[in-house]
Amino acid sequence: MAKAKKIFVCRDCGTRSAGWAGRCSGCDSWASIEEATITAGGTISSLTSSADGTSSRPLAEFIGDAGVPSPTGLDEVDRVLGGGLIAGSVILLGGEPGIGKSTLTLQIAIAVASHGASVLLVAGEEAPTQIATRARRLGSVPPSVHVLDDISVEATIAAMEDLKPQVVVVDSIQTIEATDLDGNAGSVAQMKAVTERLSRSAKRLGITLILVGHITKDGSLAGPKTIEHLVDTVCTFSGERSGDLRQLRLIKNRYGPTTEVGLFEMTAAGLAGVSDPSGRFLADRRVGLPGSSVVCTFDSGRPLLAEVQALLVETAAPSPKTTTQGVDGKRLAIVAAVLTQRVGLATTRYDIFVSAAGGAKLSEPGADLGLAIAMVSSMLSCGLPPELIAIGEVGLGGEVRSVPRIDLRLQEAHRLGFRLALVPATVTEGPVGMKLQPVATVGDAVRVVTDLSKSEDMHLD
Ligand code: TYD
Ligand code: MG
Repeated sequence: MAKAKKIFVCRDCGTRSAGWAGRCSGCDSWASIEEATITAGGTISSLTSSADGTSSRPLAEFIGDAGVPSPTGLDEVDRVLGGGLIAGSVILLGGEPGIGKSTLTLQIAIAVASHGASVLLVAGEEAPTQIATRARRLGSVPPSVHVLDDISVEATIAAMEDLKPQVVVVDSIQTIEATDLDGNAGSVAQMKAVTERLSRSAKRLGITLILVGHITKDGSLAGPKTIEHLVDTVCTFSGERSGDLRQLRLIKNRYGPTTEVGLFEMTAAGLAGVSDPSGRFLADRRVGLPGSSVVCTFDSGRPLLAEVQALLVETAAPSPKTTTQGVDGKRLAIVAAVLTQRVGLATTRYDIFVSAAGGAKLSEPGADLGLAIAMVSSMLSCGLPPELIAIGEVGLGGEVRSVPRIDLRLQEAHRLGFRLALVPATVTEGPVGMKLQPVATVGDAVRVVTDLSKSEDMHLD
């Protein structure tokens, strides 16, 4: 048998060396070098790996170790992340400055620490006292939330090795630097190196690593984009800074679907999950108001009811204006053109104002039919029945088309007390106690709602 020789091999990148070093010269990883033996035939066997010298294992053996999410206890976060945080995974949380990323990550830290986990916050942007000031608004902080007041990647990795926390939050990735590399913190090369080094350590130590990254209003700041491929999960936190609503969305997720959206409200005591968004969006509705209709969209993995308000103001101007908020301008243009050309209601004589009430965002075609009847209701100054919901896409021919998950949309509408639904003609079944009114065209829908609004008290029998 050939004589085996002792060498040192990097566990992360495989670089070989004759002597041990704290840091690998091949990939700059810390504490990744292990003693191994090499035979004359070139076979390497790590002294710490399996006895037969092979490093491959049946895939099935890994299944027991495969990431099982641990709930954070914040329901909206857990729903978006498919159940919670996975050990050894790296999450990038992007969002505009001031939107609430530090608040959200601090709340995650406090929530997981209150279940016994230890958490390391790497304070790149704010002094620990500033973080403490924010924490005071959020309630009591368990002692297992630690803060590292250092911006070097080396100190961060050393603290990870030392504390071995379950979760590390780096706020923000743009402020951490690798001191051995050129360039300022936040440069593309620095961010890539920092992300690679931190995630290698996180994976080795089984830590969930949350990297906060600032993105600009148009979502284009080069920084966080350039590290998206280096992480397992990419989320964005967004909303109007002037309003209270915030959305947590997934852009990429190696562990599951990206369909769920988490909804939060920024309050004086931090972010509160909005567990009943439909109820919230309808909370201030004034029923029977001309121009108001209720739609049910489904673009965030769950049905969402919202009020659409339209105000059509007659004008003699040659080119009337259209103003929208929370409603997709292109969809509105299609619906307005259909009302003019297919139904004979000349929307072109009006300045059109359309808004999704309460800060809702309606971008999905399922809201078209509700948009159409809201406009007609305003144009004719007649209110719609309070228990009416409209679901359907409007086609250019004036036809009302089917949309996905009508069953779930109808259930949600029924839960909130809606008892009459305008639906595409193909829909024949709905929840018990809900009357379906199939409409093949927008013209049919307009006839139905004008007839209903003529009935004296507008209540259904
Ligand atoms: P922050 O988490 O600092 O945003 P980011 O890290 O994304 O830059 O939050 C910024 C805003 O949130 C700030 O304007 C204050 C507000 N806020 C509240 O309204 N309530 C709270 O409890 C907290 C902690 C912050
Ligand atoms: Mg911040």
